[in-house]
Amino acid sequence: MSSTRDELLEAGFEEVCRLDEIPQMMPRKVQTGGRSVLLCKDKGEVYAVDEICPHKDKSMAYGVVHHGKITCPHHQYDFELATGRCNRRKCAPVMTYSVEVIDESVFVKVG
Ligand code: FES
Repeated sequence: MSSTRDELLEAGFEEVCRLDEIPQMMPRKVQTGGRSVLLCKDKGEVYAVDEICPHKDKSMAYGVVHHGKITCPHHQYDFELATGRCNRRKCAPVMTYSVEVIDESVFVKVG
């Protein structure tokens, strides 16, 4: 059974934007739970990752979203949207957060 809006809010999710406010191939930056989070749309799914790239602590707000990944604009490291895993062995994963969509509204849970 899918969750209702009230159940999500009770579980610690915050409503952050409308689904159509997330562009194709680019993240949308939102503030939630005291963090800057990037919402990424890929193949009909929505993912949330931390704005800050774990490679050199730079913003990925102008990264490219494609094929289940976000590519950091600074040194082109790829991070899997579903797991946060980086394609470079020595780089830490980016933080990922839970996302739910109800009636075109996007909810994210940080922490
Ligand atoms: S800062 Fe993101 S790849 Fe280097």
